[in-house]
Amino acid sequence: MYKKLLKPILFRFDPETVHDFFTWTGELLGRSALTRFVVAKVYGYTGKNISKTVDGVTYKTPILLSAGFDYNGRLAQILPHISFGGEEVGSVTARPCEGNPKPRLTRLPQSKSIIVNKGLRNEGVDKVIERLKQRIPRFNNQVTITNDQKKVDFVVGISIARTNDEKSAASVQAGTDDYVYSFKRLNEENVGDYYTINISCPNAFGGETFAKPELLGQLLPALMKIPCTKPVYVKMPINIPWDHFAQLLKIIDENKLHGVVIGNLNKDYSWLDVREEAPKEYVGGLSGKPCTHPSTDLIRKTKEVYGDRFTIIGVGGIMSPETAREKFEAGADLIQLITGMIYEGPGLVRKIAKSC
Ligand SMILES: Cc1cc2nc3c(=O)[nH]c(=O)nc-3n(C[C@H](O)[C@H](O)[C@H](O)COP(=O)(O)O)c2cc1C
Repeated sequence: MYKKLLKPILFRFDPETVHDFFTWTGELLGRSALTRFVVAKVYGYTGKNISKTVDGVTYKTPILLSAGFDYNGRLAQILPHISFGGEEVGSVTARPCEGNPKPRLTRLPQSKSIIVNKGLRNEGVDKVIERLKQRIPRFNNQVTITNDQKKVDFVVGISIARTNDEKSAASVQAGTDDYVYSFKRLNEENVGDYYTINISCPNAFGGETFAKPELLGQLLPALMKIPCTKPVYVKMPINIPWDHFAQLLKIIDENKLHGVVIGNLNKDYSWLDVREEAPKEYVGGLSGKPCTHPSTDLIRKTKEVYGDRFTIIGVGGIMSPETAREKFEAGADLIQLITGMIYEGPGLVRKIAKSC
């Protein structure tokens, strides 16, 4: 129904408007037990137990919504009912970000991709903490909760990025302080089941500073000084040569983080099936199909070199149960997606769950 009826209508509208509409609808549907029940009847996974425990956190399904869709933490009530085992909220930043000038999202339907130039639009870490505390009882220390509410039924990871402004890009110290603020606040408030340090946002002020090995080597020790009882991962770029990627992995290993999310958007437009689809003047990273192979290759290489040392969360161009299986076979413990759901519909998540 999604592909035949809804998608042709939705694809006539501006992608960001559709995204906002979906967030609004999802938030509304998540509010009542009746609508959650109806959504679960259509999109919920009910097959054999495919739950997975990774770094001490149990996921009902190993499929997560990737960072960038629910950037303000509004959808945790509805996502479990469309077969997601978790989501990565954010990326959140120390200060609110308006985002880059529009257009921030452009569909490339022939290449099954989206040009993303969002610029980390989000309400800021403090606002998101407040919202998640209100909505998820186990994150709210001020209320007494039942044993049932303590159970993690749906995992909420939080992605942290550097604020997209001049102030945070002014120096390495300013950038480090920015990440430290968000990480510290989340840990102080005990909000989030895991954290991802996003060092690879391709469309923010000052670029991907902390994807330079020497600077990542300064950032991670500063973060690891902060008391944290949750797993911590790093979101990796996928356009750098293997040597560079391997240097980053070494630093992540030395700083004793739990793993890596592989990976972020593809900046290389030659991966598009139809190159002419992307207007020449556009900036931004590519999601969807152009990410499939580069990210799977890096997952495979990371697994070959590090074995079980790192948890690997595989993300990029999962458009079908087959591409999901490729990520698991390459070494991913969990997978994340966004663009597959936009092109194939929310039913894709259940299809993948059934194939696990
Ligand atoms: C609209 C949109 C916004 C995104 N924003 C973020 C973000 O804030 N932080 C982040 O780590 N990744 C962000 N990403 C990248 C995704 O998390 C993911 O790595 C990438 O889209 C590849 O997965 P996909 O092909 O399943 O979409 C964004 C992607 C999209 C499509």
